[in-house]
Amino acid sequence: MESSSVDKLSALINELPKQPWYGADLYNWKGFWYRPHHLSSTMAASSNFQAKDDDVILTSSMKTGTTWMKAIIPTIMNPVGRTDDDSVDPLLKHHPNELIPSLEIQVYSVNPHPDLSNMVSPRLFRTHMAYPLLPESIKTSGCKIVYITRDPKDTFVSTCHFMNSVIAARGVEPWPMSEAFESFCKGVHTFGPFHDHVLGYWKESLKRPEKICFMRYEDMKKDPKGEVKKLACFLGRPFEKDQEVEKVVWRCSLERLKNLEMNQHGVDPWLGIDYKHYFRRGIVGDWKNHFTDEMKEKLNQITAMKFEGSGLDFGY
Ligand code: A3P
Repeated sequence: MESSSVDKLSALINELPKQPWYGADLYNWKGFWYRPHHLSSTMAASSNFQAKDDDVILTSSMKTGTTWMKAIIPTIMNPVGRTDDDSVDPLLKHHPNELIPSLEIQVYSVNPHPDLSNMVSPRLFRTHMAYPLLPESIKTSGCKIVYITRDPKDTFVSTCHFMNSVIAARGVEPWPMSEAFESFCKGVHTFGPFHDHVLGYWKESLKRPEKICFMRYEDMKKDPKGEVKKLACFLGRPFEKDQEVEKVVWRCSLERLKNLEMNQHGVDPWLGIDYKHYFRRGIVGDWKNHFTDEMKEKLNQITAMKFEGSGLDFGY
């Protein structure tokens, strides 16, 4: 970036509201929270990205099962994902982060006008941007959006483990869960507030179910085959045989991915984060191992209040 643009960006960032978050600061831009290194690329992607009608865009708030979908969507879309020959599976050599580029973390991180002309269609992208900030062309073109979300209590616990592992690797003290919890409840969460993020996509998915496939981590855990079948139909790639669905579910399973060499020892070149941190327990209800009754009541109440009248809940 040219030095005048850097100066302008620093001046803009300095004027934004900020809050502490896992040893650094988050900045609020247009109602959503960002780490400073994601701000300029988010702004660039939001203004400049031109979607094509056959693009597929994976969207999520962080720690909601995105990595699972980053594995599943390319496996559904790529013809080799359904073959019997496991040796050709791209997941053997690539962490799921490498199979769907992130608009803000990868594509727009260096250049606000990247040349995407060499990308083969259908192109797959992902973003953590909230619905209102999505590039206009994503909203108006024929491209499909897949949104994955998760019970906020498990999302919070997963975030806490992930972020504290990431900052520990940089020698930063962990953020106590009690402080991180208060921050999450106030809506301070990178790419969030979490509840606003979910609601934006939920409401739009009700209006345009053919455009946005709204998925929940809990449904995926309960019936992975059923959910993957639904997703494949939504993406226009229905399965012909049950064995194909089973193959996709197995190839993308936590048990398998977690134990692959690449995912145990690789490092994300864009974020400098060990790939192993993206795979942890992967269960529904891990919050029960960390929450007091008071924390449960507080977050359930916030969720019930935020989602009231929307038709969305996480089953309490
Ligand atoms: P836990 O921390 O609860 O274990 P994200 O991918 O959005 O960052 O979300 C991370 C969460 O998804 C982590 O949850 C992680 O263990 C879980 N996860 C990652 N890959 C998965 C997979 N293939 N199947 C199920 N869960 C997965």
